Amino acid sequence: MDKLRIRGGRTLKGEIAISGAKNAALPLLAACLLTDETLTLSNLPHLADITTMANLLAQHGVDIHLNGQGGAHGCQGRVVELNAGTITSLEAPYDLVRKMRASVLVLGPLLARFGQAKVSLPGGCAIGPRPVDLHIKGLQAMGAEIEIEGGYVVAKAPPGGLRGAEFVFPQVSVGATENLMMAAALAKGETVLVNAAREPEIGDLAHCLIAMGAEIEGIGSDKLRIRGKERLHGATHAILPDRIETGTYAMAAAITGGEVELIGARLQDLQAVAITLAGANVAFVPTERGFRVQPTGPLLGVDAMTEPFPGFPTDLQAQMMALMCVANGASMITETIFENRFMHVPELARMGAKITVHGSSALVRGVPKLTGAPVMATDLRASVSLVLAGLAAGGETVVNRIYHLDRGYERLEEKLIACGADMERLKDAT
Ligand code: UD1
Repeated sequence: MDKLRIRGGRTLKGEIAISGAKNAALPLLAACLLTDETLTLSNLPHLADITTMANLLAQHGVDIHLNGQGGAHGCQGRVVELNAGTITSLEAPYDLVRKMRASVLVLGPLLARFGQAKVSLPGGCAIGPRPVDLHIKGLQAMGAEIEIEGGYVVAKAPPGGLRGAEFVFPQVSVGATENLMMAAALAKGETVLVNAAREPEIGDLAHCLIAMGAEIEGIGSDKLRIRGKERLHGATHAILPDRIETGTYAMAAAITGGEVELIGARLQDLQAVAITLAGANVAFVPTERGFRVQPTGPLLGVDAMTEPFPGFPTDLQAQMMALMCVANGASMITETIFENRFMHVPELARMGAKITVHGSSALVRGVPKLTGAPVMATDLRASVSLVLAGLAAGGETVVNRIYHLDRGYERLEEKLIACGADMERLKDAT
């Protein structure tokens, strides 16, 4: 397995182009199943999770063409054309779904367009049990009959197809909101999703569905109203820039005391992070092309609590913790979205961080300097937090199992090296 070797202590300076958002791209790719016409997506990031979704769609029979470069915002995103005119399988097999939980996003579109679908349950994952009960309950509210058989969700629409319904989410879920919104776009009548997720990726999906002929109101609010259509048509859509990648590089700049301009980044998608970091003496200053991250004083400890959007994103919690490890003073970091999302703590501790976990909160006492060490992580965001820690640490850090990073960060080391980081990928010879 490849590793990353980082020699810490360099101050990052320069600019980084932000790629298309992984978490927007995944549901957008699944949306191609809603029509027999071609869906064209630009600004597609080059990531392992995107390949997994493309493989899943291909085994359903989707015809996929990738056309080199052509991304928005001056980044290197690619353009993909997807045509689901001839679907050959309505089953999403365990072998693909277990690799990536977002595979469950094919359930709503397949069921809505073809009246049936069989999708493997994703199974456990490193950051908690992550069930799909809300996806299932929402589809049942639309008239679907759903059984769990042999580890699969086996779903059937009622005769005449799914029916619009009102569904109140007992808990905010990004994926379930996306699945139900796609299903509702082809259901009979109106669907109202109450306590829906408000993440920018939901808005991006809604805009693409509208371009495909759907009628959706309430984008950006927690109440989405979708009027179902008999059929949807082809469309062209540019995937929005990745706010988590943006926040990660912002914290990478901050942890080295550096100044980096994030090109194509959208400050409006990171307000909670901007406010939190302002308290830590890190400013996000809007520029013509995005925003610049710069220190306004010594790095200070501040508290952060993860919440659904517009709150502080759980996908930036590990990176924030790495940053707080070298801040002046203490910081309380509370995780409210996922159980078991502190796996980076023992690894950061191996680098000299002082962190005590109490249930869903971690008390971080800042230290003047971390020290490099061999480390390893079990999920995407935990891995990148170790890269950040390595950038600030004295000496050498080797991050193992970096396949996690390749799931969610496009050309990570290239982007950081261009800003002065001293790091290299050590290829596994085996
Ligand atoms: C998405 C993101 C992920 C991010 C997460 C929260 C994608 C591809 N992934 O994941 O990066 O960390 O949002 O912002 O967009 N839950 C249930 N039942 C369900 C569904 C969810 O109990 O049916 C729970 C989960 O276990 C979790 C919480 O709801 O505790 C939020 O999960 P959800 O918003 O659904 O996350 P994902 O869509 O999987």
